Amino acid sequence: MVGVSKAFGAFNALNRIDLDIRRGEFLTFLGPSGSGKTTLLMILAGFEKPSGGMVTKDGADITGVSADRRNFGMVFQGYALFPHMSVADNIGFPLRVRGVDKRERQARVADMVDLVGLAGHQSKRPQDLSGGQQQRVALARALVFGPELLLLDEPLSALDKNLREQLQFELKEIHRKTGTTFVFVTHDQNEALALSDRIAIFNHGDIVQIDTPERLYSAPCDRFTAEFLGSINIFKLKNPRRQNGSIIGEFGGQVLSAPALEGAISSLLSVRPEFLDVREAGPASDEDGVRAVLRAQVYQGGSTILKLATADGSELIAMRAAGQAPCVEIDKPVWVTWPRLRGRLIPENSLSREVTEPLTTTMGGTWKITSNRTA
Ligand SMILES: Nc1ncnc2c1ncn2[C@@H]1O[C@H](COP(=O)(O)OP(=O)(O)OP(=O)(O)O)[C@@H](O)[C@H]1O
Ligand SMILES: [Mg+2]
Repeated sequence: MVGVSKAFGAFNALNRIDLDIRRGEFLTFLGPSGSGKTTLLMILAGFEKPSGGMVTKDGADITGVSADRRNFGMVFQGYALFPHMSVADNIGFPLRVRGVDKRERQARVADMVDLVGLAGHQSKRPQDLSGGQQQRVALARALVFGPELLLLDEPLSALDKNLREQLQFELKEIHRKTGTTFVFVTHDQNEALALSDRIAIFNHGDIVQIDTPERLYSAPCDRFTAEFLGSINIFKLKNPRRQNGSIIGEFGGQVLSAPALEGAISSLLSVRPEFLDVREAGPASDEDGVRAVLRAQVYQGGSTILKLATADGSELIAMRAAGQAPCVEIDKPVWVTWPRLRGRLIPENSLSREVTEPLTTTMGGTWKITSNRTA
């Protein structure tokens, strides 16, 4: 897709999105409600016309091609199964529409039933299935005709947590087995991190960063992405300045530092909660730290979340794995320390387009969204 934009009246739902979808990848659109994820998916599917820009496939413009002729599979939150048809007939429906003969239809439906784990349920009606099973039928129906691209809009959001995690796992398996390109929409950060080869972060109609889950988590391009993907502690440094390859600055009477980024000096030093230690002893020579008091501990089974406050009132979040030494007392002054290498600066005032890898790469066999940059 090249610079695709979408306006609803005076409102810009998408601002010239450039996106290159790679064959076979699991790409997730992640962002807050109203950020434009569904709108872009609908443009990709052919249900919405972009106000500007172009959707291409292998270099050919498909912007004007209707949804049914794009031949993409689709799964949405409301499964929209046919209530009067059996599971097998629901799954086989796209083949019937395409005039596939009965024998081949039955063989392909049987393969799909195995793939999505519905053996033994073929002759049931949708209303006799659980929510998770219904979603499996929807998935099988979307995949049965072998689409090159499968579009999924929050397909798991109606399911309870355990079932959702189970289906996430199965979805990943199905992606691996079929080799189909998946474009998946969610506003659940953990789901995105767990499933995706790449995640595109949406904010106010822009893709602000697109990268692998690991790189997004460890090197967010701006404060929005940093805070959106998991929790993070951000220290606003006073008088930030360069020293050797680092930026140093003061916070709470301590000098903190982190490796400098390219470009402008940033005063926002970030540390993920899992790297913070909370203890009585101050920082060692390869560590940084600040003074704080413990305000609360939240036990979460496998880990404990510690909420702390610094003297200036900033809240810090630390995470302790289960089995680590017992914690300090509430309201008693402590040190919060971290290995200096774990501190990371976040670009300030980053242009929303800043990315750690190019949004558009030239690779064969991909769908592209682009705009006429002159428009
Ligand atoms: N048909 C429409 N007419 C007017 N405004 C629309 C229309 N469709 C979407 N919008 C607006 O465009 C913006 C983006 O909507 P979109 O559905 O793409 O968001 P989303 O990221 O999918 O959000 P959610 O996570 O809530 O599903 C929203 O502000 C929405 O109100
Ligand atoms: Mg949506």
